[in-house]
Amino acid sequence: MRNFTPEQAGPGGAPVVSADPFSDEFLADPFPGHAGLREAGPVVWLERYGVWGMARHAEVQAALRDHETFCSSSGVGLSDFRKEKPWRPPSLLLEADPPEHSRARRAVARALSPGTVRNLRAGFAAEADRLVTELLAGGTVDGVTGIAEEYPLRVFPPAAGLTGDCREQLLAYGDMAFNAFGPRNHLLARSTARMEGVVPWIAAHCTRQALAPGGFGARIYDSADEGSITEDEAGLLVRSLLTAGVDTTVVTLGCALDCLARDPGQWQLLRDDPSLAGAAFEETLRYASPVQTFFRTTTRPVAAGGITLGAGEKVLLFLAAANRDPRRWEDPDRFDIRRRAVGHVGFGYGIHACIGAALSRVEGEELLAALARRVATLAPAGEPVRRLNNTLSGFASLPLVLTPAR
Ligand code: HEM
Repeated sequence: MRNFTPEQAGPGGAPVVSADPFSDEFLADPFPGHAGLREAGPVVWLERYGVWGMARHAEVQAALRDHETFCSSSGVGLSDFRKEKPWRPPSLLLEADPPEHSRARRAVARALSPGTVRNLRAGFAAEADRLVTELLAGGTVDGVTGIAEEYPLRVFPPAAGLTGDCREQLLAYGDMAFNAFGPRNHLLARSTARMEGVVPWIAAHCTRQALAPGGFGARIYDSADEGSITEDEAGLLVRSLLTAGVDTTVVTLGCALDCLARDPGQWQLLRDDPSLAGAAFEETLRYASPVQTFFRTTTRPVAAGGITLGAGEKVLLFLAAANRDPRRWEDPDRFDIRRRAVGHVGFGYGIHACIGAALSRVEGEELLAALARRVATLAPAGEPVRRLNNTLSGFASLPLVLTPAR
């Protein structure tokens, strides 16, 4: 891939990268492009969009840690909220800085407390077991619609307190929100076309009245009752969980199934010891990085990787490239569930690190463990089809054949 033109020097002498990281070609197989970005330098100039890029683990992690310099309130996508109107009212969490962010984060952390997540585990495990029983009756399955979408859509909505069928709305909204962090390309246009009626549906289902008591959606309103957030803020925080909580986990589970189906040795390791399910989910987050990128905006001039970035400039952080940086990981392009994947930035890092990580880990652990206990072989049954999205990297279709363990 001709993505680096060394004779050219960009702003501050930075290496110029001409590749478009949001093109279909790049998104369909991002890893060679990531290697090129890492090799080009610690900080590069992405000339297609006139923004900075960081793809090495050390720089990505340092930027995520320094939220005062690399802020989120100007948006964590390409669009700069100081110059362009966002497509929806900004998230009080993802697209906010302290002190507003800290207040919102406290309310959500309370609603998704370790105790809440712990109490969900038994129900999630039972649902995983039920799904595996159904899958084994079928033999072949599309790993995306039949497993990776099916399982979170059975367990997440009731845990949140959503009632009724919400499959299409949650998936369409997630696809749109994650495309909207990128440029206004055909992927965004395609997901926008799926959105008929979805925005009002989401808004209506974030209200106190719509949420069943006892779910973590309703628990956010406990903070409104105590006065630490307003009623409107509570609605927006529920929206954050519905936006970020489903599609991310769907894509991660799809990637985990793909990795395990393509590597019988790794599947056997998991079969031999289903307690490795958590490690397999974590290694998937490192190896496949279902959430590939997020932007930040500089609040002041800052030196990074020998380059000085000006104030008010957008920086694209390649989480996925950091997760395979050979400077940080041994044999980074190898999927290995015995690896200590701690330190990956697949859930982000710093004050914005994923607040739903514990919940999605329980989903991943319970589903993969249930499969490992009862499925002897998990194998590809056809060519996978990649799903293109400006931020998420996974599959649209993943034909699999499952044989039962005796
Ligand atoms: C495997 C599944 C998931 C992945 C890969 C993932 C990934 C991420 C990443 C990379 C960030 C950091 C964003 C940034 O730094 O700008 C993040 C933040 C966030 N995630 Fe997740 N996520 C997952 C599941 C969930 C779930 C299940 C929920 C909700 C129940 C959730 C809610 C959020 C929220 C609200 C934030 C913003 C936190 C803040 O800004 O303080 N995520 N997630």
